[in-house]
Amino acid sequence: MLFARKLRGKPGVQAGHLASGLPGWELPGWGLPGWELPAENPAFPPLPIALSSVLIDKDSSIDRTVMALRSLAEDRIFGERLPSSRELTAQLGVGPVTVRRAVGQLVAEGVLSTRPGAGTFVARPTARPDADTAWQQVALGASPVDPAGLDLAFRLRSMDGLSLTGGYLDAGLRSDSRVAAALGRAARRPGALEAPPMMGLQELRHWFATELGVDADDVLITSGGQSALSATMRAILPSGSPVLFETPTYPGALAVARSAGLVPVPVPVDDKGIRVEFLERAFQTTSARLLYMQPTFANPGGTVLDDSRRREVIDAATGAGAFIIEDDWAARWLSHGQVPPPPLIRDDPHGHVITLSSLTKATAPSLRVGAIAARGPVLQRVANLRLVDEHFMARPLQEACVDLLSTSSWRTQVRVVAVTLRERASTLAVALTRHLPEARFTVPNGGISIWLELPGHHDELSLSERAASMGVAVLPGQIFKVGESDRSHLRLAFASIESRDIDRAVMLLSRAVRTGRHQE
Ligand SMILES: Cc1ncc(COP(=O)(O)O)c(C=O)c1O
Repeated sequence: MLFARKLRGKPGVQAGHLASGLPGWELPGWGLPGWELPAENPAFPPLPIALSSVLIDKDSSIDRTVMALRSLAEDRIFGERLPSSRELTAQLGVGPVTVRRAVGQLVAEGVLSTRPGAGTFVARPTARPDADTAWQQVALGASPVDPAGLDLAFRLRSMDGLSLTGGYLDAGLRSDSRVAAALGRAARRPGALEAPPMMGLQELRHWFATELGVDADDVLITSGGQSALSATMRAILPSGSPVLFETPTYPGALAVARSAGLVPVPVPVDDKGIRVEFLERAFQTTSARLLYMQPTFANPGGTVLDDSRRREVIDAATGAGAFIIEDDWAARWLSHGQVPPPPLIRDDPHGHVITLSSLTKATAPSLRVGAIAARGPVLQRVANLRLVDEHFMARPLQEACVDLLSTSSWRTQVRVVAVTLRERASTLAVALTRHLPEARFTVPNGGISIWLELPGHHDELSLSERAASMGVAVLPGQIFKVGESDRSHLRLAFASIESRDIDRAVMLLSRAVRTGRHQE
C-alpha cells in the first residue's frame, strides 16, 4: 500500500521497480525499461507492491531494492523508522538477504542508519531531485539575520578532535543525573503542564531576586540568556538605532543587535573593564540609548569591571538618559573561588540597569532558564514582547529549577565547578607559557575563557581553520570584536575540555600558529 503511494509520480521510478504479485496487477510492460508510472493516476490505487523477482536478476534486485528504499527514505523525515525487514521482504517481494544488502548500501551512503533491536531509520534528509527552491532566494531578499559567528561556534563544537571552543560545561562537570531527577519530579507534579504565570513561577522569581539583590516583582523568567538578550534589545530600541558595546564582546549579543537592525558601536576595554572616558564620548557622539556590557567575568576576556568605574558607568548612562544591559550571564556561579562583585543593578535604583542572568552555564545547556531583572516600565515592555514571541516559558523547566536550586547539592555543585574551572584555567595558562610564550593573556578569576593576544598580524579566521585541521578547535577573535582591530586574538575556552587534554590542545595550536607565520 505504502510503496505504490510513495513511489507513484516520482521521476525516475519505473514501473519495473514495482511488481504487484497481486491478481489484476499483471500490467503489460512492468519490469521493462522506460515504463514510468503516471504521476497521479487514479487508475493506480494504493496497493501493496513487490519487486518482481521474476523479471530481475539478483544484482539488479539489490539495485532496485536500494532504489525503492531510497525513495521511502526521501518521503520520510530525518529519524523516521522504515518498515521492519520482514515487512520489507514481504512488500518488495525480495529475500531477506537482498533487503539486508540494500539497507547496508544505504547505511554506507549515510541515507539510513540501523539500531540493533530498534530498526532502520532515515539517517539524513536526502536531496529531492525534483525540488526547485530557487524562487525563495528572490522572495527572501537580503537577509536581516546575522548570526555574527554563533554559527561558527556551534559548528566547531561538533568537530572531531580537541576543542577549546565550548562555552558550556562538559557532561563530566555537570550533575546531569540531579537535573534529570528534578525534571522527572517536575513533570509529575499536579498541574505541571498547565501554563505558568506570565512573569514566571513566583518561587523562581524569588530565587533570582535573592541571588541578584532585587525585588521579586522586578524579575521576569526567560528561556535562558540568549532569549532574554533578544527580547530586551528589541523591546527597547527600534531598528536603525545605535547600541554601544564593549569590545571584545559576546558574539550572541552582536547577533541579536545586528539581526534586529541595530548598529553596534564599539567602546574599548582595558583590564579594569570598559573605558569610561570613551563611553561618555560614545554616548555623546551617537546619542545611543543603550549600552550592552558584562561587568563580571566577561566573555571572552574574563574581565571584571573595577570598583572605581562602577559609579562612573552608571553616571554616564544616567547623563545620557540611556539603559545598560548588564549581562550577568553566569557571573554568580562561574567564579573560580572569589566572591563575585554584586550586580551593577544593586547600585542603580532608577532603572537604568537591566540585569540578565542564566542557569544554562552552571547547570546544563538544555536547562534553558534565565531571568531579566529591571525596575520601571521597561520590564512590562520586555514582558509584553516575550508574550508576543513565546507566550510564556515552559512550566516543567521552571518547576525543575525550583526543585534543583532548593537543595544543598546546588551549592556543592557551584563549588565543584569553581575548583575545576580554576584548575583548568591555570593548566591552560601553564600550557600557553610553555608552547606559546610570545602570546599575551590574563588568567581570569571567573568565567570560561582566556582571551589570547598573538604578536604580529594573523588572519584569525584562517588560523582557527588551520588549527581545526591540525586537531584543535579555537574561535577566531574577530567574531568577538566590534569594528576593526589592529591586534590578533583567539578565544580559548576551558568550560568543556578536561585538564588532561589542555596541554596537547595548546601544543597543536602552537603548531598552527607557527605554520601560519611561515605562510604569511
Ligand atoms: C555572555 C553570554 N551571555 C549570554 C549567553 C547565552 O547563554 P544561554 O542562552 O545559554 O543562557 C552566553 C552564552 O554563551 C554568553 O556567553
